[in-house]
Amino acid sequence: MKKKKVSIIGAGHVGASTAQLLALYGISDVVLFDIVEGMPQGKALDLSEACPLWNSSSSVIGTNDYADTAGSDIIVVTAGIARKPGMSRDDLLKTNADVVSAIGLGIAKGSPDAVIIAVTNPMDVMAHLLFKTTGFPHHRVMGMGGVLDAARFSTFVAWELKVSPGAVNSVILGGHGDQMVPMPRFTTVNGVPITELISEDRIKALVERTRNGGAEIVSLLKTGSAYYAPAASTIAMVKAILFDEKRPLPAACYLSGQYGVDGLYVGVPAILGAGGVEKIIELKLNEKEREAFAKSTAAVAGLVKIINL
Ligand code: NAI
Ligand code: 2OP
Repeated sequence: MKKKKVSIIGAGHVGASTAQLLALYGISDVVLFDIVEGMPQGKALDLSEACPLWNSSSSVIGTNDYADTAGSDIIVVTAGIARKPGMSRDDLLKTNADVVSAIGLGIAKGSPDAVIIAVTNPMDVMAHLLFKTTGFPHHRVMGMGGVLDAARFSTFVAWELKVSPGAVNSVILGGHGDQMVPMPRFTTVNGVPITELISEDRIKALVERTRNGGAEIVSLLKTGSAYYAPAASTIAMVKAILFDEKRPLPAACYLSGQYGVDGLYVGVPAILGAGGVEKIIELKLNEKEREAFAKSTAAVAGLVKIINL
């Protein structure tokens, strides 16, 4: 059977780590695209030379030419600048909007049937921009942020309760920004809500740490932002789509009335499968959750307005 093709635009930390996981697990053939000459080719050659050791038959090529991305099943967009200490994700808006607009135009023609996953920050806005510039139907353009934020919340909950991280199922709504909305009522350990397992004060602290999860890593690394967990999160989405898993995952999705939001990309739980976003799951929110979600949505809408989408 012919392998699926995943192109990654931006061969930096997140892009190259995502390529590594795709090749390591033999999930797909990989095209690594960047504007820097030689760099994606060098990383692709290095990854290709690891494939015999991984017993992987993935082909990995590096390129500076969009033509090589043609016929992709999925395109992951990780190109642009990353945060430095003191910068929020939103500080990246204007620079990355220019980069991502050009990419939307570059990838659309050659891969008209692809599903696109935006990673570049501010991610919810970049998903919207890719939806506009590619002209693809909104269910085939989404953003990665919620999977990462939920994984961070799960990690902190697991440490708190001294249980395996895999036993925690976290739910997070809203934009992938400082106003994101971790949802303790819906976050469970083996089906038990953490509101029954952890004190209110401690939950508040875990929620705050999750909101600052990206910044915490930026302040430690000093020269960039997280990439191992972001790559692993991207892979979860790629697999759900490529293998038609119908897997419920949090993703930045285009809302057209759900949660009372119309015409905006924002993070919600969704069923991901071969068709991209196949269904948006609407949770019943209480008043406090609704308010927090509205605040997060307003923050995303404010950024979208700045770049006139
Ligand atoms: P990086 O600086 O390591 O890599 C970015 C790459 O983009 C560089 O190799 C650069 O040459 C390339 N690039 C710039 N302009 C380009 C263009 N026009 N076409 C193709 N490639 C281009 O940055 P890193 O750490 O990989 O992060 C990438 C982006 O992902 C950042 O915006 C970061 O904030 C975001 N991010 C988002 C996450 C999320 O959860 N949504 C998680 C982690 C990072
Ligand atoms: C993160 O959350 C920077 O968005 C990126 O680590």
